[in-house]
Amino acid sequence: MNAVSSPLAAAPASGADLLLWVAVPYVCLAVFAVGHVWRYRQDQFGWTSRTTQLLEHRWLRWGSPLFHLGAFMVIAGHVAGLAVPDSWTEAVGISEHAYHTTAVWAGSVAGVAMVTGLGMLCARRLLTRRIRLGTDRSDKLLFPLLSATVLLGITATAAHNVFGPGYDYRATVSVWFRGLFVLQPQPEAISGAPLLFQLHALTACLLFAAWPFTRLVHVWSAPIGYLARPYLVYRRRATTPAAPTAGGLPSPAPGARRAA
Ligand code: HEM
Repeated sequence: MNAVSSPLAAAPASGADLLLWVAVPYVCLAVFAVGHVWRYRQDQFGWTSRTTQLLEHRWLRWGSPLFHLGAFMVIAGHVAGLAVPDSWTEAVGISEHAYHTTAVWAGSVAGVAMVTGLGMLCARRLLTRRIRLGTDRSDKLLFPLLSATVLLGITATAAHNVFGPGYDYRATVSVWFRGLFVLQPQPEAISGAPLLFQLHALTACLLFAAWPFTRLVHVWSAPIGYLARPYLVYRRRATTPAAPTAGGLPSPAPGARRAA
C-alpha cells in the first residue's frame, strides 16, 4: 500500500449535501427502527431467515458459511474503522500506517469471502428452479441491494487503498458516520469523498431501510443461546428382547395398559 493522503473536506454543505448526507440517512434509520417494531407486531411467525436448505444444500454448504464469516469480519472492520476515531487508535499505540495496512489486508480477505459467498447464494437462487419460485418481492429487493453495497465497498477498497494511492476515509466518511449518531451531522465531511465511498454509504443506508422488511431480521434472532445450552441427553432403548408370552407375543412393558 502506498502512503495515505488525508483529504479533509472544508467546503460548506450545499442543499444536495444536506439531502444526501443528513435527510436520507436519518429517514433510513427511522424506517429501520419503526420498521422493526411494525414487522415484529405484524409478522412474528415470519421472523425467520426462511431457510431453503431442504431445497438445495450443495451450494448452500459453502456459500452460507463464506458469506456469514466474511460478514462478521466486515462488521468488525466497520466498527473499528467507522466508530473508533483515529486519535483513539493512535493513543493506544497503533500508528496510521499499521491501522491502514491491517485494515486493507483483513478487509480484503473479509470482502472476498463475503462476495464469493454472496455470489454462490445468488447463483443458487437463480439457477435452482425451486428456490427461484420461492423468491418473493422482499428477496428481489434484498439480494440486489446487498450485492450493490458489498461490491461497491470492495471496489472502493481495491480502487483506492489496494491498487490506488491510498485514501484516509477515517478523516471523512467516518467523521460523517459518527456525526449522525451524536446528532451533530457533518455532511461536509463526506461530500468531498470519492464517488465509490459515497455510493457505498448511500446503498448501505438504503439497505438499512429495507432491512426490517426482509429475511435480514433473522440477524436479531441468531440462536446464540445454542453455544451455551445444556447437552441434550439421548438414551438407547433397552436392547434385551422382551420375553415371549404363552401366545407367542412379547409381554407388555411394565405399567403398559391394554388398549380399550
Ligand atoms: C453507512 C454505512 C457504511 C459505511 C459508512 C461504510 C464505509 C465503508 C468504508 C469506508 C469502506 C472501505 C474500507 C477500507 O478501504 O479499508 C468499506 C468497505 C466495505 N464495506 Fe462498508 N460501509 C457501510 C456499510 C456497509 C454494509 C451494510 C455492508 C455489507 C452489507 C458493507 C460492506 C463492505 C465491504 C464488503 C467492504 C470491503 C471490505 C472491507 O474493507 O471491509 N458496508 N465500507
